[in-house]
Amino acid sequence: MKTSLAIPVTQIEQSRLPEIDFSNLAFGRVISDHMFVADYRNGEWTDLRIEPYAPLELSPANAALHYGQSIFEGLKAYRNDKGEVLVFRADANARRLNESASRMCMPALPEEIFMEGLTQLIDLDKNWVPSAKGSSLYIRPFMFAMDNYIGVKPSDTYRFIIFTCPVGAYYSKPVNVKVETYWTRATEGGTGAAKTAGNYAASLYPALQAQKEGFDQLLWTDGKSHSKIEESGTMNVMFKIKDTLITAPTHTGTILKGITRDSVIQLAKDWSEPLEERFLNVSELQEALENGTLEEAFGVGTAATIAHIAKIQVNGKTYTLPEKGSDAFSNRILRELDGIKYGEISDPHQWIIKI
Ligand code: COI
Repeated sequence: MKTSLAIPVTQIEQSRLPEIDFSNLAFGRVISDHMFVADYRNGEWTDLRIEPYAPLELSPANAALHYGQSIFEGLKAYRNDKGEVLVFRADANARRLNESASRMCMPALPEEIFMEGLTQLIDLDKNWVPSAKGSSLYIRPFMFAMDNYIGVKPSDTYRFIIFTCPVGAYYSKPVNVKVETYWTRATEGGTGAAKTAGNYAASLYPALQAQKEGFDQLLWTDGKSHSKIEESGTMNVMFKIKDTLITAPTHTGTILKGITRDSVIQLAKDWSEPLEERFLNVSELQEALENGTLEEAFGVGTAATIAHIAKIQVNGKTYTLPEKGSDAFSNRILRELDGIKYGEISDPHQWIIKI
């Protein structure tokens, strides 16, 4: 691995690796040995370092805890049969972090710091990248305010951290979703497109109500008319109706610009699949469910990968989707993405970096 930034490393005294049961990985519970840290003060990013993963010491007056200046990313590294470790589209995450930062009045992080911190951290904790199919190393970069000040204003100081976790599947089986037409996740002019903590906090209560009714997730609709499908709480969503792939556009600023979403769209274009980036009306979805023209519905996200949707509730009526054969678009795209992520097939868009 070629490195250009000298990042000092404090190594953990005793790795926790031998304690980990790699055959039974839940999502996001086990954290690897080290983390990358950088601080922002006096208008610049400084004090770059890799140190043992450990609790943070924060003042109770920390501004992020009160006013939510906190953004994050999610991406994954994979180990293939040759033992190589490959990271998928990290540069896209570096760019999206800065889009979120701009919306939340936070400083941009130079892409070089993001990429070098990430690659040097994964290189150090390489043995934490699982090898079983379906498992990966989930990488969580995040940035938050560090001022200790109770007035409402953008913080002057920030911290950026990357830590990693070996993970299994986020969804171990197809998901059941409910179209939400009362609660609002995001509305035009809001922060919906930013990967910021508050968007997730606001979604918890409605999602919990749906979980009590037996659903895994909500399908959010637009905040104004609640008539157009936007995305799900943990992933973007795609529908295949009469051979055409339909997914919500991102120009309204209410939808997260998913990197898996972008990758699926790119591959669909490469394959000349009929594709429409447009809002699907709730009524149109219900009609397609009623008349059997909804061929596939699935979520797309880093954690979720390609998550098949088994049941959809619309206007109080629950529809069961037929099981998907191996030639379904969602399964073909999953195989193609896995092939690229594991370095088994060509990578025409240069999405992979090798650690
Ligand atoms: C991701 O897919 O990386 C996310 O941040 C979503 C979250 C549900 C884990």
